[in-house]
Amino acid sequence: MKRVCDIDFSRSIQGKSPFTLVIFGGSGDLSKRKLIPSLYNLYSLKRLHEGFNVISYGMPGMSTEEYREVVRSSIDTYYKRVERGDLEEFTGRFHYISGEFHEESRYREILDLHRDLSKEDVQLVYYLAIPPVFAETVIKNLGQDFLRESGYPRKVVMEKPFGVDRESAGRLNEVVLKVFREEEIYRIDHYLGKETVQNILFFRFGNSIFEPLWNRNFIDHVQITAAESIGIEHRGKFYEGAGVVRDIVQNHVMQLLALVAMEPPADFHADMIRDEKLKIFKSIRSMNEKDLGENLVKGQYGEGDEILAYREERDVEEDSNTPTFMAGKFFVDNWRWAGVPFYIRAGKRLREKVTEIYIQFKQPPLKLFGDECNEIVPNGLLISIQPEERISFRLNSKYPGSENYPHPVEMEFNYKQLGTYDNLDAYERLILDCLRGDLTLFARQDGIEAMWEVADPINRYFEKVDTTSLPNYESGSWGPEEAQDLLFRDGRCWRISDNCIDMEEV
Ligand code: BG6
Repeated sequence: MKRVCDIDFSRSIQGKSPFTLVIFGGSGDLSKRKLIPSLYNLYSLKRLHEGFNVISYGMPGMSTEEYREVVRSSIDTYYKRVERGDLEEFTGRFHYISGEFHEESRYREILDLHRDLSKEDVQLVYYLAIPPVFAETVIKNLGQDFLRESGYPRKVVMEKPFGVDRESAGRLNEVVLKVFREEEIYRIDHYLGKETVQNILFFRFGNSIFEPLWNRNFIDHVQITAAESIGIEHRGKFYEGAGVVRDIVQNHVMQLLALVAMEPPADFHADMIRDEKLKIFKSIRSMNEKDLGENLVKGQYGEGDEILAYREERDVEEDSNTPTFMAGKFFVDNWRWAGVPFYIRAGKRLREKVTEIYIQFKQPPLKLFGDECNEIVPNGLLISIQPEERISFRLNSKYPGSENYPHPVEMEFNYKQLGTYDNLDAYERLILDCLRGDLTLFARQDGIEAMWEVADPINRYFEKVDTTSLPNYESGSWGPEEAQDLLFRDGRCWRISDNCIDMEEV
């Protein structure tokens, strides 16, 4: 058969031009766990331009030499890849300036150091790896005349959550737009950089067999699970103010929902895709007080086997009302999806780490296989995002033998089958895209505000839920019982749960 497209991995994406990356919060959790290891892998793979430097700006007082120790220890702890470039050469590119985020005058040191390190036209990429409360202050300071007039090409990368609600996100956006042009703003949601997440669109729009079925006529319901087995780690302060909705649902889970539900874009241009996703966020049915009570479940983890309850974690109030779990039933009120429930659940300290989308199709219209098998297992399409990276489809076939028993079988595509591929992880991919100026996998402000419009009523409702009911799930379980009931009530169950064994076969 003719090969349609020869993939030349030597032409993989490269950061095309030299740059200075300025990380605000360079000694924080995100930098240590994700940014530094990602940069090191890109460096080891020779995917970064040789003329790059990193300036870290942060509050802990330390020298550049001490900061380079932080970089080494981050790589020791979190770097798990095979490729290992020259570590000393790599750490030698890191520089540290200690300062408070509001200290206007210290920002001049950033510019001076950048000038010392690089030639004239080197781009400045500001990365805000800091809690959202500091974002406005840093952006305002980046708007100081001496920085704006320095003439360097520049970009800003902003981490989620963008604001804490619709209003603050709008305000933050106004501030950012006073300093940067829209095309200089990279709002990162690392889920969009995951290979399996990008594959959702390829799978949907690259196969003519699914798209005709991808609607209310054939799909019974959709489940999205973003379960984590870890707790909040060292992020008590952040998490107390965020909770699961701001941390995971308003961004990662909403993006997954939009990719499943959106219409085909006219082409793969960043704005065309973002336009289609925006329509989905805007079509998610808003809920009144009664709907919120019926369709949402709030959870907070208690103790588990040698595991602390959320309320016992560092920097967490002992009567904290913060949710570490949520489940909910949503509807996308458009022509394609009218009446199809989207069940989502996300949480910390659940049984296992698994992110997946499960699409269950309707039962065939006639039951031809006799009484015993009146309820044949429905067709189900599973898109496993992580840790497994696979897509599998459950069909029914005849069980061999003389009787008429239908039997579920599975067709599967696993990423492992592809052998070597250009497997950058999400942060690596997004850092490269930003350096190259490709906005496709970054969020746009109107989309973010529309996602807050979904999340805000949930947060307001959860704030009112009586704290005495918490904690309401054991660490290492699948969350509160009510999350199971949410589906049982509709005659359905979560694909992975304790009470729905047969579904696990998909
Ligand atoms: C982050 C959240 O955005 O995503 C964390 O702030 C969470 O709380 C993480 O642990 C999960 O990301 P991943 O890629 O491990 O699923």
